[in-house]
Amino acid sequence: MASFLSAGDKPVVYILATGGTIAGASSSSTASSYDAGKVLIETILQALPKDEVAKYATLKSEQVLQKGSQNLTPSDWLKISKRVNELLKDKNIDAIVITHGTDTIEESAMFLQLTTKSDKPVVLVGAMRPSTSLSADGPKNLFDAIVLASSPLSKGKGVLLTFNGNILSASDVTKSSPVHIDAFKPANIGYLGYMWNNTPYFLRDNLQRHTTQSQFDISNTSSLPQVEILYGYAGSSAKAVEDAVKNGAKGIVYAGVGNGNFNDEVQKALIKASQSGVKVVRTSRIIYGPTPQWGEVDDEKYGFITSWWHTPQATRIILMLGLNAGITDSKELQKLMLSY
Ligand code: SIN
Repeated sequence: MASFLSAGDKPVVYILATGGTIAGASSSSTASSYDAGKVLIETILQALPKDEVAKYATLKSEQVLQKGSQNLTPSDWLKISKRVNELLKDKNIDAIVITHGTDTIEESAMFLQLTTKSDKPVVLVGAMRPSTSLSADGPKNLFDAIVLASSPLSKGKGVLLTFNGNILSASDVTKSSPVHIDAFKPANIGYLGYMWNNTPYFLRDNLQRHTTQSQFDISNTSSLPQVEILYGYAGSSAKAVEDAVKNGAKGIVYAGVGNGNFNDEVQKALIKASQSGVKVVRTSRIIYGPTPQWGEVDDEKYGFITSWWHTPQATRIILMLGLNAGITDSKELQKLMLSY
């Protein structure tokens, strides 16, 4: 553990570093190619103005992982979540900031949203440009994350992300550009607020269950149930569904077309999967807007569940945690989709 700054009476913000582009490095400050997860957190912190940070927080930091987030696995989520819960039990730690790759940050955020047993602020942050880039976005995003985490206004808000001056809820965030610095959008609720002049301005609350109201406990979990996400398109075949079942999937999240629809061939395979005990959740390849029950598919008849307002990747996490908690009844799993 490296201690960066001691500002006495300021909240202690503990930074857990996991890698990503915010820790990326390139041999050129202007090229678009780089390697993610190369720079350690102590070096990243050197890019922040110490006297400005000291106005808001005392920082401690730890390199918990060092990867591009495309290589993170459910085991890594468990590792991060257990460390977060351990740290937040410490009365000397007021908040956590997690530096993370942007590719799967929404998945780690949702996992933490459902498994963090504290109302202390947890803020995830990343960058679209590597730390060596001309006009890197990481330092400002990280500074905002520290200010956001240190604010009493962030307490009880659930797991947050800040990017490009926006504040987003982990329940609702999705990556919306593979390359631009304004890369995160809320899928349904809207931005929770904005960072301006080193102050968080919250405009709304997330009414879905999260953190201290979550029923999920992973403290004794060493691996999570296998759940696959499959993608629908014109002419999609049943093969992907059959392969997922053959390969041991306990759940399938089907990102269908439109309102979570699929063609007759895929429907037949999904009904067969459901009848064999695999839990099937209909969701949509359209990121924005809900996939509700009672559309063109008779969900109740086939034991299907729908994701409502969750992206396929957030849906997968709810299903994994539900199955891990021993919930296999489709109606009960449906309730989880609605309440988280
Ligand atoms: C990653 O997700 O680790 C690479 C991409 C990024 O952080 O923007």
